[in-house]
Amino acid sequence: MKLRETKDGSKTLHEQNLDVFYHSVHGALSETRHVYGEMGLLPALERCPKGLLHVLEVGFGTGLNVLDVWSRAKKAERHVVIHSLEPSPLSWEEVSSLDYAALTDVPEEIWRTMHEVGAWQDEWMTFERIETGLFEMDQVEQIYDLVMFDAFAPAAQPELWTTPAMDRMRLALKLGGQLVTYCAKGEVRRAMEEAGFLVRRIPGPPGKREMVRATKMLNRKGRFNVRVYMIVERDAQGGGKEVLVSYERLPMGGVMKFPGGGLEWGEGTSACLRREALEELGQPVDVGPLVHISQRVHLSSFDENHQVLAVHYRATLTSEVSFDDQGELEDVFGKRVPMMHQRLGWRLVKDLNANDFHFASDREAWRAWQNR
Ligand SMILES: C[S@@+](CC[C@H](N)C(=O)[O-])C[C@H]1O[C@@H](n2cnc3c(N)ncnc32)[C@H](O)[C@@H]1O
Repeated sequence: MKLRETKDGSKTLHEQNLDVFYHSVHGALSETRHVYGEMGLLPALERCPKGLLHVLEVGFGTGLNVLDVWSRAKKAERHVVIHSLEPSPLSWEEVSSLDYAALTDVPEEIWRTMHEVGAWQDEWMTFERIETGLFEMDQVEQIYDLVMFDAFAPAAQPELWTTPAMDRMRLALKLGGQLVTYCAKGEVRRAMEEAGFLVRRIPGPPGKREMVRATKMLNRKGRFNVRVYMIVERDAQGGGKEVLVSYERLPMGGVMKFPGGGLEWGEGTSACLRREALEELGQPVDVGPLVHISQRVHLSSFDENHQVLAVHYRATLTSEVSFDDQGELEDVFGKRVPMMHQRLGWRLVKDLNANDFHFASDREAWRAWQNR
């Protein structure tokens, strides 16, 4: 294990097998203080202003993050219960010359005991080092207020930055709890979103533009809004296929979407689609196979307390078109269509792409349909 001085004067270690550092070379202490202290622990203490704060750290390593937590808990006069996962504990001999106790203003006995015994308890902290990895730890549900995710970088330990890893950490968090980490890579953020986190990029520590804070959302006013849409296709006159779309003039502007709408209480999804056809097309449809159900989180453009779950079916007209199907997108920008009204039209499938649809749930369904 090689020692290296980082840009803020604090030292870190180099792990030779994986060829990675335990901290940012732009500043080990600055990274710990910013990512896990200011952006993680302090907001968690504010969110939970009374009682014990429960923290899970993934990657105890040298213990620097935990020492920073101890000194913040003491300053705030709070008690933090912290469990820190570490499948490959370092020895006291390997870490002691890093001088982290002095750097964080923590009595050295505490740091040493954490390494030599793997546990510590005093007025400000109950600490336990758990000598397993994230995938091997006992499965726990809704225990922690904060996850300090400090694994080695995705290039060194890709499995720890995947959706299954995020699923585990999200499960361990209480509703409203947060995960913080130094890595803001696109693929990592997508893995977090896939697991159901609300992911925000926020300013990073010195030398890094961004870091990530991911929230296990708690919304007491939250509701599911189930919407059912039809994908009606026909042969186009000039060859190829065309699909029925709806142009609607909504408060946010003119939009193109699939015809359909909200599920009513007591109605099945196919009954909903048949009713929507009668309302919007003025004629019936046969409901065909299910094409797609939203996989991602879509918050309603009308009310962010509504999470839209969109169900897209294939559907066919049971008779000749008897509605006005000459609509085009321009109609809903001008005054030709009153506010909250629609026109229907056909679009050549080969000329359409997902981004022509205004709502993300339609774009998701369109991609699924095209990739079927
Ligand atoms: C970037 S270092 C952590 C630095 C540490 N937080 C500190 O303050 O020194 C990553 C740590 O994750 C540990 N680790 C490796 N595999 C792990 C796994 N599957 N689960 C949890 N931690 C793991 C490594 O042994 C290493 O100590």
